[in-house]
Amino acid sequence: MKFATKAIHAGWEPDKATGAVMPPIYMTSTFELDEPGLSRGFEYTRANNPNFEILEKTLASLEDAKHATVFSSGMGALTALVSTLSQGDEIVALNGIYGGTYRLLTKVFSRFGVKFTNLLTVTPDEIEKALQRKPKWLMFETPTNPLMNIFDIAELSKMAKKYDVTSVVDNTFASPFCQNPLTLGADIVWHSTTKYIGGHSDVLGGVVMTNDDEYKKTMDFSRKTLGVNPSPFDCWLITRGVKTLCVRMEQHQKNAMAIAKFLESHSKVSKVNYPGLPSHSGHQIAKKQMRAFNGMMSVEFKLPQKELMKLISSLKYFTLAESLGGVESLVSHPASMTHAILPKEEREKLGITDSLVRLSIGIEDSEDLIEDLKTHL
Ligand SMILES: Cc1ncc(COP(=O)(O)O)c(C=O)c1O
Repeated sequence: MKFATKAIHAGWEPDKATGAVMPPIYMTSTFELDEPGLSRGFEYTRANNPNFEILEKTLASLEDAKHATVFSSGMGALTALVSTLSQGDEIVALNGIYGGTYRLLTKVFSRFGVKFTNLLTVTPDEIEKALQRKPKWLMFETPTNPLMNIFDIAELSKMAKKYDVTSVVDNTFASPFCQNPLTLGADIVWHSTTKYIGGHSDVLGGVVMTNDDEYKKTMDFSRKTLGVNPSPFDCWLITRGVKTLCVRMEQHQKNAMAIAKFLESHSKVSKVNYPGLPSHSGHQIAKKQMRAFNGMMSVEFKLPQKELMKLISSLKYFTLAESLGGVESLVSHPASMTHAILPKEEREKLGITDSLVRLSIGIEDSEDLIEDLKTHL
């Protein structure tokens, strides 16, 4: 099956008993046993539920993974992942990971003795040096948030393998439509399915995917033990949303390219960070490892702070809000929103200046979106 077909058919066939074309929602906390210890595959929804399995089959198919385990949110998925580590284990992350990931590792798991190193200078030498310490994981996202930096997944996975280090990739920003890290050599892929996979900003979810049979069992165990399970209804919503991932991503990309080109030539813009633009420093690697580009970009405006705040608060079709990947366009100001926790100097060192704005381009008509930006700029 090709990608668009998998999104619709993998994981579910019309119900044999009723003929229902789409899956029902199994809103039950518990399941009848035939005799003690003998279930029909399900016992208790914290451990498993048919709606989890339907979504897992679809997502594994889209990510070209052998296994998937779904969770309550992206952070739920990460909690399950990190809970497999032990005191003294080290995670090396490449600069640009999601703020919530940073918070979970530095404020919670650090108290349980899991060491965390965020590599600010990402050069082959620095990565090699860090890998020589034999951390448990090399962890990264590509494109990064909010600067849309690109890392070479195949190269990094190869380096990690050389030192027997597990490579863990957060593929939320790209979505499985744009890139498949497992195919490029990564060991573990996880997503916040709240974003492109769900696609409608109406549900939270997460998933971990792997080709390792034992790791699948570990993830199922972690979900059941930690209680980071999703609800059957949320899985049903994500199953519904992901069916249109292909057409949505095509429109996200088309709109984003048109807007990136418009903004790049605007006199009040100093820089557009969009990997689809030939001017982007990671464009060649992005072209090599991504089938398509997503709808995410960040833009440096040449505007006084007050005017910039006015601009992002007054746009008609871009809602001022955190999150990304939904059908609607969103705008955010990383310095005062997602990255406000970082001191100004540290933020600026990372390239997250006060004049940087992040856009999640939706699937509206690009002419309306450009008109909106033109009117307010
Ligand atoms: C790249 C990335 N990873 C993980 C998460 C966390 O996902 P969730 O909000 O579903 O817990 C987010 C949320 O914004 C994200 O942007």
